[in-house]
Amino acid sequence: MRILFVGDIVGSPGRNMLKSYLPKLKLKYKPHATIVNGENAAHGKGITEKIYHEIIEAGADVITMGNHTWDKREIFDFIDDVPKMIRPANFPKNTPGKGMTYTKANGKELAVINLQGRTFLPPLDCPFQKVDELIEEASRKTPYIFIDFHAEATSEKQAIGWYTDGRVSAVVGTHTHVQTADNRVLEKGTAYISDVGMTGPYDGILGTDKEAVIKRFKTNLPVRFEVAEGRTTLSAVVIDIDEQSKKAVKIDRILINDDHMFFE
Ligand SMILES: [Fe+2]
Repeated sequence: MRILFVGDIVGSPGRNMLKSYLPKLKLKYKPHATIVNGENAAHGKGITEKIYHEIIEAGADVITMGNHTWDKREIFDFIDDVPKMIRPANFPKNTPGKGMTYTKANGKELAVINLQGRTFLPPLDCPFQKVDELIEEASRKTPYIFIDFHAEATSEKQAIGWYTDGRVSAVVGTHTHVQTADNRVLEKGTAYISDVGMTGPYDGILGTDKEAVIKRFKTNLPVRFEVAEGRTTLSAVVIDIDEQSKKAVKIDRILINDDHMFFE
């Protein structure tokens, strides 16, 4: 089974990058399931119903979210009606939406879980306790479990990776928008990367207009953050799971921008 995961789509530059490259990535890698993080898809903050459909039509099977889930107020009008979007599972009890869903991959059920870290992010429910509950629930249905762990600290991401090693197929980190080079299969067969990186503006600061961010650092004054313009990048990973052993065997990084050319 092969899974393609595309990192945080930032604004329209990210959506356009996804629309132009996802068909090519699918032709080249032939994934059985495609998962996309869309928490920054609406001008860097949150997602709208229209953009949800745009990303699904571009070829995503599941959309994961993160700390910007609630930034667009209309999310509350549609989050409980869209089957293919999940938000972090460790948000407080009775929060709208859900934190786990299933999609078909190579004829099998693939559980997809979204969790959020607590280091340098709001104090949510414990992601370690929550992941135990969800693995137990998903395991009754399928041995194939994918986790998008949306977190800031690499230590917390590595901790979730090792904590779930051998119990899930993959743990991919999102949120920092910078792709890390630590992609590997852990000892007991879980594919892992600390951060997949982002999809959107290449010449900004994490996708935001760089002048505004520099001004904020220099002056500490409130500034208006806009999605950067200009060149774009796409960050993704492709993961192979052996259907005999049910263990991950490979996780490769994908980076497409003017410094990392895409070969079809
Ligand atoms: Fe985030």
